[in-house]
Amino acid sequence: MMEPKIAKKGPYVMEMQPGKYSWCSCGESATQPFCDGAHERLDTGLTPVEMEIKSPKTVAWCGCKRTAKPPYCDGAHNKL
Ligand code: FES
Repeated sequence: MMEPKIAKKGPYVMEMQPGKYSWCSCGESATQPFCDGAHERLDTGLTPVEMEIKSPKTVAWCGCKRTAKPPYCDGAHNKL
């Protein structure tokens, strides 16, 4: 399994609408913070985190891929 790439040393804070989302855990996606299938193309051994948002809300998606609470930022980027 590959070490995830740091896509960004901080969260992607976004206003989200209800729907299903796939958070990139490998850091290689070109459509951060969401999966674009790069984990398979690059054979990273990592898989995205699938989740559903039921009502509109602001989400701080982890960009550093080091959070202990994926897909959310937990402040781990401050130690990088
Ligand atoms: S961006 Fe990864 S923990 Fe904050």
